[in-house]
Amino acid sequence: MRNAIAEHDKQYVLHPYTNLSAHQEIDPFIITHGEGIYVWDDQGNKLIEGMSGLWCASLGFNEQRLTDAATRQMQKLPYSHLFSHRSTEPAIELSQKLIDIAPDNMARVFLVNSGSEAVDMAIKMVWYYNNALGRPNKKKIISRKRAYHGITIASGSLTGLPYVHDGFDLPAIPVMHTETPHYYREGRDGETEAQFTDRLAETLEQQILEEGADNIAAFIAEPVMGAGGVLVPPAGYFEKIQAVLDRHDILLICDEVICGFARTGEMFGTQTFNAKPDLMTVAKQLSSAYLPIGGVMLSEKIYDALVTGSDKHGMFGSGNTYGGHPVAAAVAVETLNIYAERNIVDHVKSLAPQFAEGLQSLTDHPLVGQARAAGLIGAIEIVQDKSTREQFPVASKVAAQIANHARNHQLILRPTPGDSVALCPPLIINSSELSLIFERMRLALDDMYATM
Ligand SMILES: Cc1ncc(COP(=O)(O)O)c(C=O)c1O
Repeated sequence: MRNAIAEHDKQYVLHPYTNLSAHQEIDPFIITHGEGIYVWDDQGNKLIEGMSGLWCASLGFNEQRLTDAATRQMQKLPYSHLFSHRSTEPAIELSQKLIDIAPDNMARVFLVNSGSEAVDMAIKMVWYYNNALGRPNKKKIISRKRAYHGITIASGSLTGLPYVHDGFDLPAIPVMHTETPHYYREGRDGETEAQFTDRLAETLEQQILEEGADNIAAFIAEPVMGAGGVLVPPAGYFEKIQAVLDRHDILLICDEVICGFARTGEMFGTQTFNAKPDLMTVAKQLSSAYLPIGGVMLSEKIYDALVTGSDKHGMFGSGNTYGGHPVAAAVAVETLNIYAERNIVDHVKSLAPQFAEGLQSLTDHPLVGQARAAGLIGAIEIVQDKSTREQFPVASKVAAQIANHARNHQLILRPTPGDSVALCPPLIINSSELSLIFERMRLALDDMYATM
């Protein structure tokens, strides 16, 4: 049975983010069911889903209320859309709830189906905004090296990871990438964190001056950079960046696709890190990933310009067939209800010290150079030499090997660029389950070390 299904996978499925020829040699890791923070594979192994899937299944893998919300909406109205003044109750309720929990300046919500679509839509909005304001040249977007914003033509262009560009002719929109706020690796000898963030802000300003602020529309940033290695910005980073952007009339887009909905210990990462965005993108934990849905939230200032533009062009000419799908929206509404009833922000806050200490405790291991954490997202960075911070050769894929060892100990982790191993468990996790994760992480590190 196993062989048949594994063979069919190899024969028919084209896998994303996968080495396609290696996939012919490796048995697929087939997940069959889940419960709480656990998933089972088709070999009967019960694993802790230490990555919440792709940083998204916040409520774990058997939340009956979400299944019920989907079923009720399926039975009532399985499909309708939001084009041309049409609407649905779940889309209205969801938009209202999002504005209620968002930072004060957020005024409207545009619903889409994924994080990449949300980022693309935010970029289209800032272009439309500048066109409406009569600034047709103010279009370039500043992103950061190691950023992850998705895979579509625009969001993939903004992503600052080579493997997302290679072979796809990206970047394909006007974009420039600035420095990464990763003090451990990018800080210079003798430089304090404060001096480091000053330098990053100065570099940004220099890039803006060279390019001309009249040509730059927006700066996009994840509050914590997720797929690039869980890079937590130093204190004061966003305040300094924001001051530069304000001086040059450049909008801030915060990509909350991973950080949104309590992941960093506040409802949004912008609140944890004191950023004041004009637009925010959300997805993933918006529905606990039970159905695909995302959105862009925007301020009144942006909204007003979109209204001006739509008068000029006859309509705001953008929308997706499934954007704001009523079943996905109903599941998202129920997800937000659960977050509120269970006080998910306080739950994350209560576990955050244990989470940070658990990762920090691993830094006594010879392979671990640094631990990083914010709320319930974190990573350890693997080094060959702790005193020099020298890394292993890229070809040794040490972070991927550690993730493989972790899987042998029934724990799913994720290797990320820069030899970091990421951890992002479902938000419903409890204290004893967290302890179990750190025990298993240590076993995986020991296994790795034993092979060296
Ligand atoms: C910060 C961020 N933005 C955007 C995306 C893209 O989202 P999606 O995979 O739903 O298109 C991701 C996905 O991981 C992400 O981490």
